[in-house]
Order: sequence, then C-alpha cells, then structure tokens
Amino acid sequence: MTSGSANTDPSANRDIIGRDEIDDFEAILSVVGHEDPSGLHDVHNEYDTTFTWDYEKGARPQLNKLYEKAKRSQWNGETDLPWDTDVDQEALVIANAAATGGFGGDIDLSGTPLVSWGDKEWLQFGVESQNWTLSQFLHGEQGALVCTSKIVESVPWIDAKYYAATQVMDEARHVEVFAKYLNEKLSGHYPINAHLGALLDDIISDSRWDMTYLGMQIMVEGLALAAFGFMRQMTTDPLLQKLLRYVMADEARHVAFGVLSLQEHYAGLSAHELRERQEFAFEAAVRMRDRFLQQEVWDRMGVDPKAVVPVLQQAPDRAVFQGLLFSKIVPNCKKLGLLDGADGWLRTKFTELGVIQFEDWADTGEEYEDFAAVPAAS
Ligand SMILES: [Fe+2]
Ligand SMILES: [Fe+2]
Repeated sequence: MTSGSANTDPSANRDIIGRDEIDDFEAILSVVGHEDPSGLHDVHNEYDTTFTWDYEKGARPQLNKLYEKAKRSQWNGETDLPWDTDVDQEALVIANAAATGGFGGDIDLSGTPLVSWGDKEWLQFGVESQNWTLSQFLHGEQGALVCTSKIVESVPWIDAKYYAATQVMDEARHVEVFAKYLNEKLSGHYPINAHLGALLDDIISDSRWDMTYLGMQIMVEGLALAAFGFMRQMTTDPLLQKLLRYVMADEARHVAFGVLSLQEHYAGLSAHELRERQEFAFEAAVRMRDRFLQQEVWDRMGVDPKAVVPVLQQAPDRAVFQGLLFSKIVPNCKKLGLLDGADGWLRTKFTELGVIQFEDWADTGEEYEDFAAVPAAS
C-alpha cells in the first residue's frame, strides 16, 4: 500500500474507515452510539510512562516560550465570564436562521419527511441542534483533558511535560465552562456522537506518544479551533461570544503545541512510520466529518436520518462550510510533512475529501500569537 496506484484503491478506505466510499451515508448512519447506564466509559490502555532526568528548561525554546505564554494567559471560568447574561435560546436560533437564509435554506425537500415542516419544527430543530453542538464540544473537551494528561506522562521532553501540564488546566476549565453553559443556558444534553466517541477511543488507546498529539492537538483541536470561530461569528449571545474568545485563545496554543512538538519528531521518521501517521490523520478526518451529520438530532426529532441526510448534504453551502472546518488541519499537516511524505498519500486522500485547497492557509505553529489571550488581566 505504498505505491501511487494504491492511493485510489477503495479497499484502502475499507481497511482504514470501514467502508469503500467516503460518502456512503447508509454506512455512516448505521453507526450509532450506546450509552453505558453506569454513566462511565472505560478505555483500556497500555503505554509507557516516561521519566526524563534532563531537566534543562528551554532546551526546546519554542515550547518554553509557549509554556511561559500559557502561564500568563490563565483565566477563571467562574469569575471572568458574564454568567448573569440572559440567554433566549429560541431568539438565538431565529437570528441564526435569518443570517443563513431562513429555516431549511433553499434545498428542495420534496420526497423527504421535512416537506411538511413549518417554522415550529425548524425552530425546535434549531434548539436541539444547538444543544447537540455544545454537547459535542463538551465531550471533545473532556477528550482533550484526558489526552493531554496522557501526554504529560508519555512525552520524553521536559519542556513538553511543562507545557502539557498547563494545557491540562486549560482543558479542565473548558469542560467546566461548556458544562455550565449547557446546564444553565440551554435546554438539554446529548450523549457523545458515535463517530466522535470512536475517534477519541482510537486516540487514547494508541500506545505511541506522538499519536496522542496527532489525533488530539492536530486533528480534533484543529477542527475545534475552526468550529469555535464559526460559532463565535454566528451567535448573537454575548456570553457565548466571550466564552469562545477565551477558549479559542487557549486552543490556538494547544494546536501550536502539537505542530511544534511533532515537527521535530516527524523529521526523524521513516516513510513507513510516516504512512502510519497519514492513515491515522485520514481516519480522524473522516470520523470528524461523519459526526457533522448530527444523526442524534434527527432521531430526537422523530425523523429517520437516512431519509434526510443524503438530501441535505447536497446543499452546496454545506460542502463549503464543512470544508472550511478543515482550514487549520490541512496547513498544519503540510507543515509537519504529512501531506507529501511517503509518496504523498495524504495529499491524495485530502483531495478526495475535498479539503486540499486549504494547504497554503496559515498554519498554527506561530499563529497563536494573533489570538487575543486573556485581555487586560495579563
Ligand atoms: Fe479545549
Ligand atoms: Fe484544547
């Protein structure tokens, strides 16, 4: 599977993502989540916890700089956000719909169960969609908390252990503020989406320390940074705007941490090892794309997702929006040498996914400097 011809072999997709066609909606929507009644989810894990006796701070100057920046940029989710803001969830949904061309957009829904929907159903869908989106952000944040604590243990460099420790604190704060926003301002929780859950399980159970970084810091957090940016632009709620601004300043550092750490490590990998990272990145990209279909919302609305998702996915603006969510991931993969290493396999796959056009957008190795961190307080 290292020759150019293997790049377009559908069996390669089956081995990595469990289906031949990336857009096989039937297969995607057949994967559903199961909630454990205990309210807990265990992932078995075997990896080395690594001590280093080399305590030289600043041996990796860029990581040291990031660590110092993180120490100055801490904020308090309880006291730095205006939690007394009144949030009218339906008004937010209506404002969102007005900005994006009205409920349902201008897609031809004939032949689907949505043809009989009026404003009431679309409003309810918008509310559920918001509950779902924030719930997935929350679960993703817990994934970041757990993954980064694993990096503290497994990464061999002291500057990276120091930095990762600050990120663990950042992620605890993110879980805290998203949970509080959902509990106090919105109207319901969703369990973790099956595709996101499978991705987090894959990331956390891989024994190689750099795979945690690739899955979490580059892929999940790269997508989160773009998604938070969209939501911050779209929402008219000043509390959520401020919450996202603070979270994004942290996330930009986290993605930079991934880029700066992996650049050094990947420079020493063989083509075979690089190919394994490429396949992991592709699998992560597809899982994240699969979760956009928000099948759990359709279920809760009493609509079979298989009857509507294939129609809705044909809307041209949907493809543009979903593509833009990869606008951080693709340039960061390029900077890491993952796009063109090992025969350019990932370039081919990102072309298939329709996201290669972002390869020359700004990468996040330095970009974190542009995100306003904690404003006056620092
Ligand atoms: Fe986070
Ligand atoms: Fe993060």
